[in-house]
Amino acid sequence: MLQLKLITASTREGRKGPAISAWLLELLKQYKVFETEHLDLKVINLPFMDEPHHPKLAKYTHEHTKQWSKTIAAADAFIFITPEYNYGFPATLKNAIDYLFQEWQYKPVGLVSYGGISAGTRCVQLLKPVLTALKMVVITESVNIPFFTKYINEEEKFVSDESLNRSAHAMISELIKWHEVLTTFKNRSAH
Ligand SMILES: Cc1cc2nc3c(=O)[nH]c(=O)nc-3n(C[C@H](O)[C@H](O)[C@H](O)COP(=O)(O)O)c2cc1C
Repeated sequence: MLQLKLITASTREGRKGPAISAWLLELLKQYKVFETEHLDLKVINLPFMDEPHHPKLAKYTHEHTKQWSKTIAAADAFIFITPEYNYGFPATLKNAIDYLFQEWQYKPVGLVSYGGISAGTRCVQLLKPVLTALKMVVITESVNIPFFTKYINEEEKFVSDESLNRSAHAMISELIKWHEVLTTFKNRSAH
């Protein structure tokens, strides 16, 4: 089974992120290849990066970092669900990323963004160079949700449409392909 970690980036009081994550978690059930774990950064509650050594050294001193390292090392692929804050991505996501290095490497990541007219595309463009610094492979087919509140009903449930479902499936099928490519690559480099 392909170990997929779905990361919910927003952590603020009254956040909408979990509604979007719930939609994707439901949609992912159609894929028998995945064992999916939801990593909610609000629940994981990492402090601001407090390790004394560069993450490349993996010399972690804090229990929360060791735990985060173990969780991310166990992943084969990721989906990040992120809002756009001031044209960027939330500090909580950058913080969670910065804690580690090797654990992210050579793994594919699909990006799901939401916002107003921009659909979070500006934050996705800023996130890409950060992820490539970690040697992650960003899936071209992002899911970008414009005016996302119109998809959230009175029960706070995200009700997607055909077009959003199609873009999610396109991203997921690429994620699977890139996982295969990167597995071959990693096996070759191990020789
Ligand atoms: C600090 C902050 C900055 C925001 N900046 C943007 C922005 O640049 N672009 C945008 O489309 N929406 C922006 N919004 C509106 C968000 O899209 C909206 O509040 C959304 O619910 C945020 O996601 P969350 O509820 O999961 O935190 C901003 C919201 C906050 C709280």
